[in-house]
Amino acid sequence: MTLSAELPSRYSAAIRILHWLMAVGILVTMLLGFYGGDWLGLSRKSAWMLHQSLGFSLAVLLLFRIGFRKLQVQPGSFPGTAIEMTLARMGHLALYVLMAAAVATGIGMKALAGKAIPFFGVHIFLPLPVIPELAKMARHYHEPVIMMLIAMILLHALAAFKHQVIERSPILKRIL
Ligand code: HEM
Ligand code: HEM
Repeated sequence: MTLSAELPSRYSAAIRILHWLMAVGILVTMLLGFYGGDWLGLSRKSAWMLHQSLGFSLAVLLLFRIGFRKLQVQPGSFPGTAIEMTLARMGHLALYVLMAAAVATGIGMKALAGKAIPFFGVHIFLPLPVIPELAKMARHYHEPVIMMLIAMILLHALAAFKHQVIERSPILKRIL
């Protein structure tokens, strides 16, 4: 029996659920950041509360996702050329790094300034030192990080579309 025959053919239920839950969460958090809450009938203040509450939830979900990824056996690479498989691995890693940077700069700009993070009506004070220069830096990099995350997500969805629709290889089955 080869090694690849022993690997699962798709991601675990935990990774599949977290993938789509976080994709929707990131989209809504991003829309709230760029356009405020008018489209949800929310005031400006409530939109920012929701943005930060969702952003904080995404940070927690990301920790679980990384945990599941480390602890569970992952499916082998989707078959392709060596370059395609390397690009896919690097792309997934970049998505993880950018998701982490998005939540870290968001949380950092508040917590490192000594401010609470609103979380659905509760105010969370993280046990972090107050370093105003770092908080300023986090605020400065939050938007550029989000722009890079958007670019990677678009490339990622395009790659999935290329495999699924153009080449008719069922890649979506691995994550649905
Ligand atoms: C916020 C948006 C998204 C992010 C951050 C994201 C991130 C990821 C990551 C990191 C993986 C690797 C599996 C893992 O370890 O979790 C993955 C797998 C996958 N994603 Fe996404 N994804 C997003 C949206 C989408 C969309 C919109 C599609 C397609 C329409 C899609 C299709 C897939 C597919 C097909 C796989 C499996 C790839 C493979 O088996 O090699 N994703 N995604
Ligand atoms: C994946 C998660 C996140 C995404 C996609 C996201 C997205 C965005 C976007 C698009 C903006 C608007 C940028 C601009 O036009 O200036 C923004 C601003 C902001 N975000 Fe996030 N964010 C995330 C996580 C967080 C977290 C976890 C927090 C804090 C707990 C946070 C706090 C803020 C604050 C306070 C601003 C306003 C910054 C300013 O006034 O310059 N974000 N975010």
